[in-house]
Amino acid sequence: MYSLLEQLRQQFSQALVKAFGDDYADTDPLIALAGKPEFGDYQSNVALSLAKTLKQKPRDTAQQILDHLEIAQLCEPPEIAGPGFINLKLKPSYLENQLQTIAQDDQLGVEKAETPQRVIVDFSSPNIAKEMHVGHLRSTIIGDCIARILEFRGHNVLRLNHVGDWGTQFGMLIAYLREAYPDALIKADALAIGDLVTLYRQAKKRFDEDEQFQTTAREEVVKLQKGAEDSVKAWQLLCEQSRREFQVIYDLLGVKLTERGESFYNPLLPDVVGELEAKGLLEEDQGAKCVFLEGFSNKSGERLPLIVQKTDGGYNYATTDLAAIRYRIREDGAQRIIYVTDAGQANHFTQVFQVAKRAGWIPEDVELVHVPFGLVQGEDGKKLKTRSGDTIRLRDLLDEAIARSRQDLEKRFAAEGRNESEDFIEKTARGVGISAVKYADLSRNRTSNYVFSFDKMLALQGNTAPYLLYAYVRVQGISRKGNIDLATLGNQTIVLADDSELVLAKHILQLSDILKEVEKDLLPNRLCLYLFELSQKFNQFYDRCPVLQAEEPKRTSRLMLADLTARTLKLGLNLLGIEVLERM
Ligand code: ARG
Repeated sequence: MYSLLEQLRQQFSQALVKAFGDDYADTDPLIALAGKPEFGDYQSNVALSLAKTLKQKPRDTAQQILDHLEIAQLCEPPEIAGPGFINLKLKPSYLENQLQTIAQDDQLGVEKAETPQRVIVDFSSPNIAKEMHVGHLRSTIIGDCIARILEFRGHNVLRLNHVGDWGTQFGMLIAYLREAYPDALIKADALAIGDLVTLYRQAKKRFDEDEQFQTTAREEVVKLQKGAEDSVKAWQLLCEQSRREFQVIYDLLGVKLTERGESFYNPLLPDVVGELEAKGLLEEDQGAKCVFLEGFSNKSGERLPLIVQKTDGGYNYATTDLAAIRYRIREDGAQRIIYVTDAGQANHFTQVFQVAKRAGWIPEDVELVHVPFGLVQGEDGKKLKTRSGDTIRLRDLLDEAIARSRQDLEKRFAAEGRNESEDFIEKTARGVGISAVKYADLSRNRTSNYVFSFDKMLALQGNTAPYLLYAYVRVQGISRKGNIDLATLGNQTIVLADDSELVLAKHILQLSDILKEVEKDLLPNRLCLYLFELSQKFNQFYDRCPVLQAEEPKRTSRLMLADLTARTLKLGLNLLGIEVLERM
């Protein structure tokens, strides 16, 4: 067991039982990182809360705990502070041992989950024939990161792309396709349709201007729903072309997803409504079938309905999500389902979850979570737009990040008198550009809005991807300079003497606790902050402690510490979906 927190907790739990009896076996020892360095590394507040139950003075309770605490291997003699806090300071010898142990471990001391779960992460999920916008970009980046962390912890993750590939808009699109691109249909040539967003605009214009066309479009919807062969073919063609456009973005981002769009659940919808009816949840409201929600009412206090079948017999977004929940639990065996969308859909999910719960589709041990995120804003604080006021195309946005990162690199290389190959510049610009966009998104608390700024995200200083990537590159630079293959260092002795070494060591050893926290709270910015601080602490260590010039055994020990930092950075960045660079 490597987790620092868990080792401390275990010792405390044993002490609590010894001091106060078996009833206290499950008492949370309330251990957390110390607020200030002068309080040590960790702090337990358990004496304060226990003293009340025990009717003692908290300092006495603390003393009783200390009398039974066998922690000499891990910590310096603990101190009781203030009203009864217990301050803990980790021993260098213990840190050295732990570091040597995790150095031999590919997972760097991060244990696999004790009970691996079947988890579904529903993310990205753009809509066919529509633009994939920055909201989908956020969902893609955050969802991918969450999936990576859960996978790393040993969970069985299904990454689902719930694309919007069904709905009445397809009537209009197919009708227009027949009119404007008959050849593409005959030859089943998706490429010939060209840019789908343009097609969508043209079709919409046609729809708004011509009543006859509207009728044709509505008939197409019915034909498609009935499964008419040529309509289904046309629909497939549209999906194929859209998918191709999405794939460009996924490839640029290096994100993998399994597509299971809304249409997948289509055949299940009548049964979903049927089951709701059989369970007595369904009511009719002005011809529509709906479930009235608990805890939702309008201004005049009337209950709000969740419509599951419209007056015309059609189903909607909510019905599909109900079907998806039922399917994912029954067929996929999901134990945790995570939905990554903008905060604007919070109500939708609360409502759908409620109805699914009341229908009995969510067993006690299954957890459904909506992971909401805020808006991406332009530097003017408004919705992100191009200079001419159009919505930004994701492709253009990512390309611009790469182009700007390239300018920065070229400037820096020129200033440093470096002569790099075109291939290297291109690869590095791409790596840094994409990483910068991802990191800018992940490093903020996802629940708040964030301002999109190329300048800030590409800066070499601050909590940015380039800063972190650079810390990694610095370590690789040491190994190149000293002509040392860090991977072959093997099991060497680590000695921690300088304060900056101790600070760095303690930080490295927190990885396991941080990842468990992210696994629970689904807040990737915690991991970003951890990696940023790791880079800072490494840079402080490197400024203070010579590595290659140091005497043995310090030299090897410091190389080990540098290597562990780099490996932690590489692993952590990888979990964010960011690949490290050996040079930059
Ligand atoms: N297609 C939706 C949108 O673009 C997101 C779907 C999210 N997932 C879900 N199961 N509802 O807003």
